[in-house]
Amino acid sequence: MSDKADAPKKSQVVSGLQDIVITQQDICYIDGEKGRVIYRGYDIADLAHNATFEEVCYLLWHGDLPNQTQLDELREQLTAAMMLPSELLLILRALPTNAEPMRVLETGVAVLGMIDPEANDDAHASDMLKALRLTAQLTCITTAWHRIREGKYPILPVPEKTFAYNFLYMLFGEAPDAYAVDTLNVALILHADHELNASTFAARVTAATLSDMHSAVISAIGTLKGPLHGGANQAVMEMLEEIGTPENVEPWLEDFLAQKKKVMGFGHRVYRTKDPRAVVLEEMSEELGKRSGQTKWYEMSRRLETAFQPKVAAKGIYPNVDFYSASAYHVMGIPHDLFTPIFACSRIAGWSAHLLEQYADNRLIRPTSEYTGATDLVWKPIEERS
Ligand code: SDX
Repeated sequence: MSDKADAPKKSQVVSGLQDIVITQQDICYIDGEKGRVIYRGYDIADLAHNATFEEVCYLLWHGDLPNQTQLDELREQLTAAMMLPSELLLILRALPTNAEPMRVLETGVAVLGMIDPEANDDAHASDMLKALRLTAQLTCITTAWHRIREGKYPILPVPEKTFAYNFLYMLFGEAPDAYAVDTLNVALILHADHELNASTFAARVTAATLSDMHSAVISAIGTLKGPLHGGANQAVMEMLEEIGTPENVEPWLEDFLAQKKKVMGFGHRVYRTKDPRAVVLEEMSEELGKRSGQTKWYEMSRRLETAFQPKVAAKGIYPNVDFYSASAYHVMGIPHDLFTPIFACSRIAGWSAHLLEQYADNRLIRPTSEYTGATDLVWKPIEERS
C-alpha cells in the first residue's frame, strides 16, 4: 500500500505558468527584451503622445481607431454612463468610511451586476454595452466613494469634457489643471492593457466558465489588488514616504536589501529592460514635480533607481509601470489608496477587450497539477486517532 502517489509523473511543473502560452490574442503585444508595448498594432508611446483614453478604449474593443463620429458617440455614451444607480449610491453610503477602495470597487461591480439589465445576457452586443458601462462606472465608483467617505456628495461629469478631465473633476469637485488632465490621460492609456497579466488572466479564467462579465471583472479587481500586481503603485508611495528624503535613499536601500525584501515598482515577469510605460511616466513625474514645486518625490525615485538598478541589472530587474506612477499621482494630489483603483479604472478597458475575445472563442481554462500526496490510506475511526 503506497503512502506516496505512484501516479505517472506529468510534464515539468512550470512555477507561475512562466512563459506558458495559453491562447492567441490580437489585443496587446509586449516585447520584453526591447521594451515595447503594442495595442492592436499601434505603439503605446505613439498612443500616449497622441491619443485620448477614449480612442484607446475604442481601439481595444473594436480593433481600430475611431473616426470623429465614432469618437464623439463613444465619448457621449461614456459620459452618459458616468452615473451610478441610486441603489448603489445607497449601499456606498452604508459602507464603513475606512473601507479599502479596491474592496469598494469589488462591491460596486457586484451590485451593478444585480442591476444591469444585460448582466446575464451573453450576446456580443450586450457585452460591448457592458464594457462601455463598466469603464464609465468604475471611474464613478472610485470618485463617488472618495467624496462619500469625505462626507461630500458625488458629482456628475461635465458633458463634452474628456474622460480624464471628468475623472479629476468628479474626484476633486473643481475644474482640473490642464497638465494634470493630460498626465492622467496618458496614465490611463499606459495602464489600459498589458497582454495576459494576472488580473486579465483571472478575468479570462472566470469568463471561460461562461460566467458573466461582472463576475469576471470582480475576479480581475481582486487580483489587481495584490502588491505584486496593481497594488505596487501604492506600495511604492509608502516606500518613498518611509525613505523620507533623497539623502536617505542609499542608507535605506542598504538596510532594505539586507532584509531580503523586494523593492516595489521594480521587476517584471516579462520585461528584461525598463518598462516602456515607466519611461513615459518618469518624464511626467519629473515635469509634474517641477510645476508643483514638489520635486523631492521624483528626485527620490530617480536616486533609488540609480542606486538599485545596477545591483539587480544582472537579474534583469528594472523599474516597472508602478514605479514612477506613484510620485506622479502623489503630486497630482490623488490619495494613495486610490492609486490602484485608478489602475483598475484604466485596465477595465483591456479586461473587457480580453473578455470579448474569450467569449467569442471560448474553452474552459483548467490546468492540472502533479499530485505529491499520499494515496490508499486506510480510514481510522476517530477514537483510534491520536
Ligand atoms: C504589474 O504582468 C503584468 O504585465 C503586470 C503589469 C500590468 O501592466 O498588468 O505590468 C503590472 O503588476 C507590474 C509589477 C508590479 N509589482 C511590483 O513592482 C512588485 C515588486 N516586483 C516583484 O515582486 C517581481 O518583480 C514581480 C512579481 C513583478 C515579478 O516576479 P517574478 O517574475 O515571479 O520574479 P521572481 O519573484 O521569481 O524574481 C526573480 C528574481 C528573484 O531573485 P532570486 O531569488 O532569483 O535571487 O529577481 C528578484 C527575486 O528576489 N526580484 C527582486 C524584485 N523582483 C524580482 N528583487 C528585489 N526587488 C524586486 N522588486
